[in-house]
Amino acid sequence: MKLAVVVMAAGQGTRMKSTLPKVLHPILGKILLRHVVDAVKPLAPRHIVAVVGHQAERIQATFGDEILYAHQTPQLGTGHAVQQAQAVLPDDVDAVLVVPGDLPLLTSDTFQQLLTIYQDSAGVLALLTVARDDPQGFGRIIRHQSGTVAAIVEEADCTVDQKSIRELNVGAYLFQADWLWTNLPHIPLSPKGEYYVTDLVSLAVSQGHSVQAQPVTNPEEALGINTRVHLAQVEAAMQQRINRRWMEAGVTIINPASTYIELDVTIGPDTTLYPNTYLQGQTYIGQSCVIGPNSLVQNSTIGDNCLLRFSVVEEATMENNVDIGPFAHLRKGAHLAEGVHMGNFGEVKNSYLGPGTKMGHFSYLGDITTGTNVNIGAGTITCNYDGVNKNPTTVGDDAFIGSDTMLVAPVNIGKNSKTGAGSVVTKDVPDDSLAYGVPARIKKSNNPPR
Ligand code: UD1
Ligand code: CA
Repeated sequence: MKLAVVVMAAGQGTRMKSTLPKVLHPILGKILLRHVVDAVKPLAPRHIVAVVGHQAERIQATFGDEILYAHQTPQLGTGHAVQQAQAVLPDDVDAVLVVPGDLPLLTSDTFQQLLTIYQDSAGVLALLTVARDDPQGFGRIIRHQSGTVAAIVEEADCTVDQKSIRELNVGAYLFQADWLWTNLPHIPLSPKGEYYVTDLVSLAVSQGHSVQAQPVTNPEEALGINTRVHLAQVEAAMQQRINRRWMEAGVTIINPASTYIELDVTIGPDTTLYPNTYLQGQTYIGQSCVIGPNSLVQNSTIGDNCLLRFSVVEEATMENNVDIGPFAHLRKGAHLAEGVHMGNFGEVKNSYLGPGTKMGHFSYLGDITTGTNVNIGAGTITCNYDGVNKNPTTVGDDAFIGSDTMLVAPVNIGKNSKTGAGSVVTKDVPDDSLAYGVPARIKKSNNPPR
């Protein structure tokens, strides 16, 4: 089948009461429209067209030339929206999948099922339906007494009897391309002054075509977003779906309802996530880690056997066997090598802490590189910013930085050297030396006292 996909995304989403168009609202780290586009891609369509209207430039800026765009102004309804796609679509397609931009839970499998019933029938149109107690304002599926689909009636236009129907229109359709383009201009104007794509159903039936209806296996997939309440419901459903997948893959999640894992995150087996944990962006977490409670990890890589409690980690790397927290903050470019320990109230930015380095309490390390097994005493600060430039600090293997040391960068501390408590180090300290006082004096010693 030579398939094109048309995503209807031109509406402002008035019921969202937002300056942001509905399809640009984020759900678990991805905008709504991204979820929809990603769900149709596995069908390998020749083209994907987004019908855009409100703030079209923002949508185009997000997707670039990944998809095609059809502009719809003014927005005269879903039928009118699909019609706009014809002009931008090359005519090398024989089937058109039309999907709403506001149903991000529909899966590739479900779209595949729709493709299959369409291909197995001789009809010109197949659609997805859902049976649900809460009709959520969806159009009702009207059937003939024989059971075949006769029409879709929008909730606003339903009779009292029709309103009680619980077989609902999901809003995704597969059309034979030629039939679609021929019949779109024949959609009648609705009482609301719009052209409804749903009216193509009764049109097909009146021409003697049969219309295939495929129920979605999991009704939750048909949760649509018209309001912020729906947005929260969909986010919760997606969160559950993702959390379930990780639990099935061997991750313990103590309280799934308060654990937020975005789509591009990877987690190894036997890792435990405590409540109020947020794993965001391109984040990789290894095996047998303990993360949380109350932690946020963003665009970071964490090795195996790491412990991260009450902490925030952004664009950072933790190798295996690293433990941080409570209340640790790793910022962009922090790299903690194997076995590093970082205790409470510390911040590390753009730095490499060598294997086995310990930093127990109240420190700021910025633009520093340390060797192995360095001890960073309580309250150590890299004075890395002179008001103009960020300056580097290096500390050699086995160095011992005494409590409350100020490392005034640029400065280098040699291997196996020590700084006294409260020292302000403004000059380089050679290997095997002691620096002490304000400003620090240096004493060469093979075995400097602590
Ligand atoms: C639509 C269906 C309804 C179905 C429901 C579920 C129609 C007339 N009704 O109602 O039967 O149960 O979806 O998903 O189709 N859009 C445009 N241009 C427009 C109007 C809408 O691009 O002129 C886009 C919107 O941005 C949205 C999608 O089409 O992404 C659906 O529009 P919406 O107004 O949400 O339709 P519903 O009232 O939900
Ligand atoms: Ca809708």
